[in-house]
Amino acid sequence: MNLSSINGVSKNFSDSDQSLDTPTYQNRKRGSRKRATRVSPWKRFKGLGFLIGLLGLFFLVNWWMLSRLNHSGSGPEISSSAENSKSSVVIKEDLGDIIKVNKPQKTPFGRLLKLAAHALAEGQNKPEPKGLWEEPYDRASNWKPCAEERDWEPSEGNNGYIMVTANGGLNQQRVAVCNAVAVARLLNATLVLPKFMFSSVWRDVSQFGDIYQEEHFINYLKPDIRIVKELPKELQSLDLDAIDSVVTDEDIMKEAKPSYYRKNILPLLLKNRVLHFLGFGNRLAFDPVPSQLQRLRCRCNFYALQFVPKIQEGGALILQRIRQNSSYAGPLDNYLLGPHAKKMVKGKRGHSVKGPKYLALHLRFEIDMVAHSLCNFGGGEEERKELEAYRQIHFPALTRLEKNDKLPTPDELRTEGLCPLTPEEAVLMLAALGFNRKTHIFLAGAQIYGGPSRLASLTSLYPHLVTKENLLSPSELEPFKNFSSQLAALDFIGCTASSAFAMTDSGSQLSALASGFRMYYGGGQMATIRPNKRRLADIFLKNSTIEWKVFEQRVRKAVRQTKQVHRRPTARSIYRHPRCKECMCLLE
Ligand SMILES: *[C@@H]1O[C@H](CO)[C@@H](O)[C@H](O)[C@H]1NC(C)=O
Ligand SMILES: *[C@@H]1O[C@H](CO)[C@@H](O)[C@H](O)[C@H]1NC(C)=O
Ligand SMILES: *[C@@H]1O[C@H](CO)[C@@H](O)[C@H](O)[C@H]1NC(C)=O
Ligand SMILES: *[C@@H]1O[C@H](CO)[C@@H](O)[C@H](O)[C@H]1NC(C)=O
Repeated sequence: MNLSSINGVSKNFSDSDQSLDTPTYQNRKRGSRKRATRVSPWKRFKGLGFLIGLLGLFFLVNWWMLSRLNHSGSGPEISSSAENSKSSVVIKEDLGDIIKVNKPQKTPFGRLLKLAAHALAEGQNKPEPKGLWEEPYDRASNWKPCAEERDWEPSEGNNGYIMVTANGGLNQQRVAVCNAVAVARLLNATLVLPKFMFSSVWRDVSQFGDIYQEEHFINYLKPDIRIVKELPKELQSLDLDAIDSVVTDEDIMKEAKPSYYRKNILPLLLKNRVLHFLGFGNRLAFDPVPSQLQRLRCRCNFYALQFVPKIQEGGALILQRIRQNSSYAGPLDNYLLGPHAKKMVKGKRGHSVKGPKYLALHLRFEIDMVAHSLCNFGGGEEERKELEAYRQIHFPALTRLEKNDKLPTPDELRTEGLCPLTPEEAVLMLAALGFNRKTHIFLAGAQIYGGPSRLASLTSLYPHLVTKENLLSPSELEPFKNFSSQLAALDFIGCTASSAFAMTDSGSQLSALASGFRMYYGGGQMATIRPNKRRLADIFLKNSTIEWKVFEQRVRKAVRQTKQVHRRPTARSIYRHPRCKECMCLLE
C-alpha cells in the first residue's frame, strides 16, 4: 500500500506558515492557492479515494478481528466497555488511587485514553525516554543569533510617513509591525508608531503602548529607521481616504515583493507624503528580500519589541511559580522579562538544562480556530450548527465558499493533517512521547472550545497542569482581565520560556513565533515538539485497534522526524525559521 506517497503530500501542509492568530479568510484562500499551484493534492485525493476506501476496509476487518480476539483472549482490562461511548473509564493504579477519565459522549478515544492512563501509571518510576527534553544539540548549537549586526546608515525617512493599523491578535500584530518596519526602510519613510485594529474575535482595545515599550522600540531601531509617535500637525488634518492614501489588504497583493512596493506604493507616498496601511497581514514576502532588510525584520522581532513592565511582571510571576521558586533563569528570561528576570543561573553547557523542567502546551482549540478549520470534532449535528453559525458571523467569506462546495470535506482535511489537535489528541501525544504523570505542564490558550470539561482527560492524566489563571491570584490577574492580547502575552512568555514546548497547530502564530524565539535564543537547548499532524491523523485513525506500544513508537517517530535542524526553506517565515543567514550565523 502506498502510504508514503500519501504522507508525501502532507509535507506541504504540515509545517505551513499559512494561518495566523486570527485565522482570516485570506489565510484559507492562500492555503487553497497553494493547493492549486503546488501539488494539487485535492485532485490526487480523488485518485486516492479508492485507496483510502481500501485502507478503511482493511482497518474495519482488522478492527473486527482484533475485537474478537479481545473478547476471547484478554482480561477485563481492555473490556469492551471502553468502546461504549457512555462509559466512564476507571483504571486502578499501582499506587492504589483511582483515575477517572470521565468520558462525555462526544469524546472519542476512550480506549486509547485508558491505555495511556495505564502506561503513565506504570511508568511512574521509569526513566523518561532519551532526548525527550532535548533538541539535536550538536547541530542546533552551531547557529548563533546575529541579527543585531548592522551594515548601513540610518534612513532619514524623508520620503514621507507610513502609518499602519495591524489586524489580528497579539502575534499577528507583531509580524505586521516588523514587516512595516522593513517597508519603512525600503521606502525611506518615517514610521508612525503602529496602531492595533479592534478585532471582533479578540475584542481588545489595547494599543501598541499597552503591550510594548514605545521608547525602546523607537530608540532600538534608530540606527535603522526614523519612528515618530504621531503624524506631524500639518498632515493630521488630511483626509487620507479622500486622497487615496489608505492602503487596505485588498490593494496590496499577498506576499508582495520589495519591487512591488517601489513600483506601486512609493509613487503614492511621494505624492501624498503619508500612507496608511490598514490590516497589513502577510503583505511583505519573505523571498526575495535584500539581506540587510531581512535582517532588519529579524532585529525588530527579536530585539525591538519588549513587553511593558506590567506584562513582564506578570510573566515573571508565572515563570517563578511554574519553576517552583527555583533560582533558575532560562536563556530567554532577559529578553522576555527585562529587569524582572532573575540573574542567569547558567545551566551546564551541553545537554540538559538545569532547573525544574516544565512543558508548555499551546492548545490552539478556541472556537475561532475550531470553526475556521472546517473540521469535525466529534460533536455531531449540534457542533456542526454551532460552528456554522460562528463562521457566518466571523468568517462570512468562508461560508460563501462552503455554500459553493469549493472546500474539502472535514474527512479530507483531517487525513491531510489540517485540523488542530483536540485536547484528547494532545494528551495522547504527550503520553505517547513519554512525559510522565509528574510533568509540570503550563497550558496556554484562551477559552477551550467545549468548555473546561473538555480538559478532563488532560488534567486526569497530568495532575500538575496549570494555566496562567491558576498561577496568578485573582487580584494579580485583574489588570489583564479585559485585554485578551495582554493575556496572550502572558501565554507567549509561558510558552517561549518553557523547557519543552508542544504545539497542537503549527499554523498558529503564537506557536510559530514561540518556536522561532526558542531557536534564536535557545542555544540549541530548547526542545520544541511540533507534531506532523498528517502522520498523527493516520495513527489516530487506528484508535480502536492499535496497541499502546505501537502507538507510542509511531507517535515518537512522527515527532522525532520534525526535530531536524535545517536552514529556513525559501519563502518561509523568518520569524518561524530564524535559522537563515540574515538572522543567525552558522559556525561551521
Ligand atoms: C533611500 O535612501 C538611500 C540613501 O539615501 C538611497 O540610496 C535610496 O535610493 C533611497 N530609496 C528610495 C526608495 O527612496
Ligand atoms: C513558592 O513560594 C511561595 C511564596 O513564598 C509559596 O507560597 C509556594 O508554596 C512556593 N512554591 C513551591 C512549589 O515551593
Ligand atoms: C472589564 O470590563 C467590565 C465590563 O465591560 C468592567 O465592568 C470592568 O470594570 C473592566 N475591568 C477592568 C480591569 O478594566
Ligand atoms: C477512531 O477509530 C474509529 C474506528 O477505526 C474511526 O472511525 C474514527 O475516525 C477514529 N477517530 C479519529 C478521530 O480518527
